[in-house]
Amino acid sequence: MASLTIRKLDDAVKTYLRLRSARNRRSVEEEVRVILRDLIEGRGEPPTPFSAPPASSSGPAPQRTGALPEASITLIIGGGIAAYKSLDLIRRLKERRIEVRCVLTKAAQQFVTPMAASALSHERVYTDLFDPQSEFDAGHIRLARDCDLIVVAPATADLMAKMANGHADDLASAILLATNRKILLAPAMNPLMWNNAATRRNVAQLQRDGAVLIGPNSGEMAEAGEAGIGRMSEAIEIANAAEKLLRPPVPRPLAGKRVLITAGPTHEPIDPVRYIANRSSGKQGFAIAAAAQAAGAEVVLVSGPVDLDDPAGVTVKHVESARQMLEQVQTALPADIAIFAAAVADWRVANEGEQKLKKTSAGMPPLQLVENPDILATISKLVEKRPPLVIGFAAETEHLIDNAKTKLARKGCDWIVANDVSPATGVMGGDRNTVHLISKNAENNNEITVDSWPVMTKEQVAIELVAHIVKSVTKKSPEPAS
Ligand code: C5P
Repeated sequence: MASLTIRKLDDAVKTYLRLRSARNRRSVEEEVRVILRDLIEGRGEPPTPFSAPPASSSGPAPQRTGALPEASITLIIGGGIAAYKSLDLIRRLKERRIEVRCVLTKAAQQFVTPMAASALSHERVYTDLFDPQSEFDAGHIRLARDCDLIVVAPATADLMAKMANGHADDLASAILLATNRKILLAPAMNPLMWNNAATRRNVAQLQRDGAVLIGPNSGEMAEAGEAGIGRMSEAIEIANAAEKLLRPPVPRPLAGKRVLITAGPTHEPIDPVRYIANRSSGKQGFAIAAAAQAAGAEVVLVSGPVDLDDPAGVTVKHVESARQMLEQVQTALPADIAIFAAAVADWRVANEGEQKLKKTSAGMPPLQLVENPDILATISKLVEKRPPLVIGFAAETEHLIDNAKTKLARKGCDWIVANDVSPATGVMGGDRNTVHLISKNAENNNEITVDSWPVMTKEQVAIELVAHIVKSVTKKSPEPAS
């Protein structure tokens, strides 16, 4: 008989099932069974329309209340007086948009009732390995795997002993043996039991097997006059530990760094309707902005006219001409890192027409060109406000490395990303790039090194460049010794 994994369904279907099962106070699996049975028997509730939340939004963080669950936990409640705290734990987890399905051991039911756990979790509670209702399709396997994490709270000495030795004679131990998910244990027991050599051995074995422990804390025991290590962690501590395992903090190596990036072409006006431009798409600069933002940097992107969406979380200044670009770059300083990926026009029209130029019998109107400011060279040569790391690009159609090395010296920047833009490469406007990173090593007599990268997408080039930046920045400012 085939089995259906709810987690693998489309988000829209999952959302529908979750809303419907919550409304009907059934588990999602039971709801699916009801839907199938109704369908076969010719009944059937028409799907309720709903709108799923947008995948990403730059607006304010979604409110937790009423938002959809984002993760799910199988919570195994063991038999100990601390089990009362697990009821609070269910609420703390649900506040964090975590779906909770509870399993109560036989001993747990001496302390808390399945009904209380069910009312708080809004899900059916599981207690029996041989429950015909859920075991007809190996329910313990689903409980073990259709979740993102298993939490055992309280983890009693007996439950941990069974787990350490691979027992599976009840629902809780069978789930713990059958799971391929991370397990978080919140031990709770009398201090003498916690310190017993057998428990010490079991805990060490479980940790070797990959289980994570939270607590136990030290304090008074339920037994009158006894104190020591063995109190179960508070619900909030367990919920925090579970959330950390479910949603590990994303590394943000450029946090606190300000990165300034130029991208795209510039448009240099000839008259109010015509301009001089180039074929730059801005894709590489935009990809770098997104990668730096993902690494935690505060990013200002100064972009010429492009057909791209602003990267999320990045401050974008839209400009047209080279002079406007320079102005915005200067306004955005100071920065820790400046990356000049724009294809700035070298020349602009000095005698820009105030009105649309007319065709005359005298032939083509004379266009006088004057040199544009070199933004990269201007910023590289600043004294006080020079960003500590300045990176330029060299788009060349011949003698790539030699020209790029000359450019590095002429512009006064620290690194040059050189790329071959001859038409055959398809780099201009395309999605892939073959680059060479040419860097000047200030610590080694300004020695020039050339690092040639394989052909990559522009996003991969961006990620690789940001990784090099992270390495260089962290080398210059080592972590303070703790
Ligand atoms: O001189 P060239 O245009 O080849 O130099 C390319 C590098 O210089 C790129 O990093 C580009 O963004 C930057 N540049 C600039 N201002 C200019 C010309 C180029 O910032 N006017």
